Amino acid sequence: MPKNNFKSTERHPPKLKQQEERELGQGSGKGKVILFGEHFVVYGLPALAAGIAAETTAKVTRTSTKGWTIDDRRPETPGYKVEKAEEQKVSTEKVIQHLGLDLSKQGIHIELGGDLVAASGIGASAANCVALARALNEEFRLGLNNDQINEAAYEGEKGYHGTPSGIDNTASTFGGLIWYVRDPAGTAPVFEKLKLKKPVGLVIASTGLTASTKKVVDDVAAKKKADSKWFDSIAGQYKTLVMEARESLLKLDLKKTGQFMNKNHELLRSLTVSCTELENLVERSMQSGALGAKLTGTGRGGLMIALVPDQRTMDCVADSLQNAGAAAVWKTTFGQ
Ligand code: MEV
Repeated sequence: MPKNNFKSTERHPPKLKQQEERELGQGSGKGKVILFGEHFVVYGLPALAAGIAAETTAKVTRTSTKGWTIDDRRPETPGYKVEKAEEQKVSTEKVIQHLGLDLSKQGIHIELGGDLVAASGIGASAANCVALARALNEEFRLGLNNDQINEAAYEGEKGYHGTPSGIDNTASTFGGLIWYVRDPAGTAPVFEKLKLKKPVGLVIASTGLTASTKKVVDDVAAKKKADSKWFDSIAGQYKTLVMEARESLLKLDLKKTGQFMNKNHELLRSLTVSCTELENLVERSMQSGALGAKLTGTGRGGLMIALVPDQRTMDCVADSLQNAGAAAVWKTTFGQ
């Protein structure tokens, strides 16, 4: 069995108590990064996402008043929770409605926590929805399986942005490495869990900027509508790239995989979803030894990821990003 040669600085949430001992009404959802394919995935092109170890947890308790209240104790990049408060409200309503819960007589209190930093790009909204769906499933003994949790979380994601592809909630529900293809016509998405022979190192850096997924996705849609030929040519290049990237990653050819990440970043830049802060982080990563680097998630702020071949390079890239003024830097691995 190949050894994990990376020391992760991702913190893990406190373990829940044994099933028999612990209270009902608790659940969690993983954070994620998109390795390839944000934005393109909305239009039915394949994408690769990886769950990370950090999670959001939710605890649901019954109250004597009707309706629901929320105490959001997640760590955050400054301003994130205030900016997303309205969307979170709509999202919570959608999950409760989808699960068919009647809170008109007895209500609930929701407490969010965990070690996933609520930030653009890390799947914070999806992890919120998955954790909530799981906690409600337990508290109300709904007997849902993971596919049904994923469906409920997808409904919740609609509160955060109107037309989610579903990749974030799927990665958050199932974790691991996920090859995801959405059917834009609306039938069930196809996803496949992949496993690498050994974990691969990744440095994640935050710009500290919160982006509106809805706005950025809408902007890309408007650009596509205005010039479909231009969009199709970029999407065509992406499609070839992602098929090759999948092969190179499965073969653990990290040098090639890194080059594909760089190319994917260029295509995202053409879609106008990068920004100066992301460009600086990408440049700094490449200068300090990363094999490839790109924005991850929505873009126009949020996060950047850099692929690294070993622990020494991981430390070097992380230090360099810290010195370059990244709002936060995490070291992690994916693929197991
Ligand atoms: C956001 O994490 C990823 C996007 O592709 C939107 C989506 O897939 O729903 C930008």
